[in-house]
Amino acid sequence: MAGPRILIVDDEPVVIKSAERVLRSEGYDVEGAAGGREAILKLEKGGYDLVFTDLKMPEVDGLTLIKWIRKSSQVIGIVIITGYPSQDTIKDALELGIIDYVPKPFTPSVLLDVTARAVEWTEGRKSKEESAGEEFPPAMAAELDRVIQQYKNRPGSLIPVLQRAQEIVGYLPPVVQRRISRGLNIPVAEVHGVVSFYSFFTMKPRGDHNIRVCLGTACYVKGIEAVTSKIKDVLKIDIGETTEDRKFSLEGVRCLGACGLAPVMVIDQETFGAMSAKKALEIIGRYDQSAVGAAVTEEAEADLTGKEN
Ligand code: FES
Repeated sequence: MAGPRILIVDDEPVVIKSAERVLRSEGYDVEGAAGGREAILKLEKGGYDLVFTDLKMPEVDGLTLIKWIRKSSQVIGIVIITGYPSQDTIKDALELGIIDYVPKPFTPSVLLDVTARAVEWTEGRKSKEESAGEEFPPAMAAELDRVIQQYKNRPGSLIPVLQRAQEIVGYLPPVVQRRISRGLNIPVAEVHGVVSFYSFFTMKPRGDHNIRVCLGTACYVKGIEAVTSKIKDVLKIDIGETTEDRKFSLEGVRCLGACGLAPVMVIDQETFGAMSAKKALEIIGRYDQSAVGAAVTEEAEADLTGKEN
């Protein structure tokens, strides 16, 4: 049986090329379209399972394309692939039923992860076993629904439900936000507003361990920048990204409320104060020594040389 067929729609050829390279290496059947108009011409012929689309494109933009797909009778999963969508555009896209986002520029692991989930949801949606109109893995959906029922009609239920949902799914993609919105009877824009406001909620998949560095004023003054840049160097990720092996994610947050300990780093639920680059690497090494191995020794040697001079 042929694998899922994916259409990448973007007016930047480089985005199409890199997505094609990554997805083809994993056996996906991928094609590109340079804009909404070309995409519609291809989609009219049928046979696609997923569409990854940019939002801002000349002539026929992403939202117009999404509306066209929704009006057609085809079951196609839609993922937005974009740099900085505005809150209004996200709200419109959420209401039109997108599955997820891929941020631009993307790493191969983020793209593959989102694709695998999008394929799973789209296949689930096509499957006869799934109840009509659903687009969510059944086991996770059942657990999430149980939590929603538990909190339903209680005041202030949104944040605890989002917290539990993040524990169950690992992050809060649009499909989860919509399910919560329906279940608690709260507008999807309000759910999205809360998810984007609090730094502990994420719309992107995270690694096994989430490293948060505080970029607040006290931590900045005490040197968190040097600590952050060392972590980025050693783990080879930027803020907002996850390592290729999905072990660590790195997040920058504003004041963690522990300014007395500045500069502060938090891994999962544990807070570490008075960070230096060397100390940060040693601590990360406790979670996975292979991620920082040589770098810790180099930092220690640099320290000694510094002291001798
Ligand atoms: S500024 Fe970093 S904890 Fe407050």
